[in-house]
Amino acid sequence: MSDTLSIRDNRTGKEYEIDIKDDNIKALDLRQIKVNDDDFGMMSYDPGYMNTASCTSHITDLHGSKGILRYRGYPIEQLAEKSTFLDVVYLLFNGELPDTQQSEDWAMRIKHHTMLHEKTKRLLKGFNYDAHPMGVFISTVAALSTFYPDAKDVDDPETRMLQACRLVGKTPTIASYAYRNSRGLPFIYPDNELSYTGNFLNMMYRMVEPRYQAHPVLERALDVLFILHADHEQNCSTSAMRNITSSKADPFVAVAGASAALYGPSHGGANEAVLNQLREIGSLENVPAYIKRVKAGEFRLMGFGHRVYKNYDPRARIVKETAEAVFEVTGRNPLIDVAMELERIALEDEFFVSKKLYPNVDFYSGLIYEAMGFPMEAFTVLFAIPRTAGWLAQWMESMADPEFRITRPRQNYQGLGERHVPDDYRS
Ligand code: CMC
Repeated sequence: MSDTLSIRDNRTGKEYEIDIKDDNIKALDLRQIKVNDDDFGMMSYDPGYMNTASCTSHITDLHGSKGILRYRGYPIEQLAEKSTFLDVVYLLFNGELPDTQQSEDWAMRIKHHTMLHEKTKRLLKGFNYDAHPMGVFISTVAALSTFYPDAKDVDDPETRMLQACRLVGKTPTIASYAYRNSRGLPFIYPDNELSYTGNFLNMMYRMVEPRYQAHPVLERALDVLFILHADHEQNCSTSAMRNITSSKADPFVAVAGASAALYGPSHGGANEAVLNQLREIGSLENVPAYIKRVKAGEFRLMGFGHRVYKNYDPRARIVKETAEAVFEVTGRNPLIDVAMELERIALEDEFFVSKKLYPNVDFYSGLIYEAMGFPMEAFTVLFAIPRTAGWLAQWMESMADPEFRITRPRQNYQGLGERHVPDDYRS
């Protein structure tokens, strides 16, 4: 037995032995397979990266068929129960959970970066009141690049960590300023006495009271949701982050790019799309007819299905439990009954069962956000804030990777061969 793969090319009769490492073969090893010396060599073809590992990572472990998600080895369920979002950020960045002292120092370090440059306000005021919060978020994060030229020194690990702390500290401030601007409300400065999510809720909702104190259940629920959304290995937006930073672009513009990838309804935009669907269905008796339309291929059931999970998304289970706790405080969101009925029917229906379509993290999260008073258009921003931590952890890992290279996929060109512009073209 050897850790190799034998390949016989039936076009030429030649045999090749390719090394196997960690259950993978190197795509570049296929290049030696040629029909003649002029042949470029074989490539693997994988639209949508269905079966291509683009990097080696030590951050997030995901077993889709078993419904397992772990950050640095810790099951997501245990982190959601026992840690805080900032401790999880520390874990993602440094590989270990912080002890009590490290946790306090870390929280203080992040809080030192919650303020935005005053000129950011002028930028924000330039947007229309009805500007979509994701467009505002993406533009403002990108604009931070102009305030921190030192961020371009991406080869220095200390500089990388400084920018990562800045981004984790500032994204809630950007999100809340975008919201306040859309409502014509004054901006609220960060309050470093509060927790990460407590401060975010303060910046969102404080009115004339001298100090805003979020309900502890809601503050914790948001923290748990942030933990669940912090990282999810090489998804569309994380791959975008790795792609953009592979050219050594600074992390502010790269996080803006990753956020743009997240914005789409097939990815982080699904939480907003789910709520739109639930509102469209409206009440329980309309659920079967709606499912029928999904099965007829009219549209997809948003918040269902996942490229990697072919089992119940473990995050969806925690979100569902969190929803119950939140509704005890805010009152029940009536659309939860519609959501639960959709889930019940879908989980019994052959169409969904055979395609292994289960609720994903976005299915219930919007209901919680709505109950907490967030406008529907801001839901994807609530995904982008915690995922910023995952993007940054993956960026820092990639920059320190000895196999680091600019990302540059190949293509399967099937267009026309050489032809010539006619001599009389446009004469
Ligand atoms: N409703 C109905 N049918 C679906 C759905 C759905 N939500 N998702 C997949 N399918 C069907 C799809 O039509 C296809 O059927 P067939 O084999 O007959 O052509 C089959 O299931 C496989 O779908 P796919 O598009 O090849 O699967 P994918 O891995 O490329 O796509 C997905 C994954 C998440 C884009 C997709 O399931 C989807 O569009 N879901 C709805 C949007 C959503 O909830 N997105 C959030 C994902 S979780 C959080 C995140 O990543 O941000």
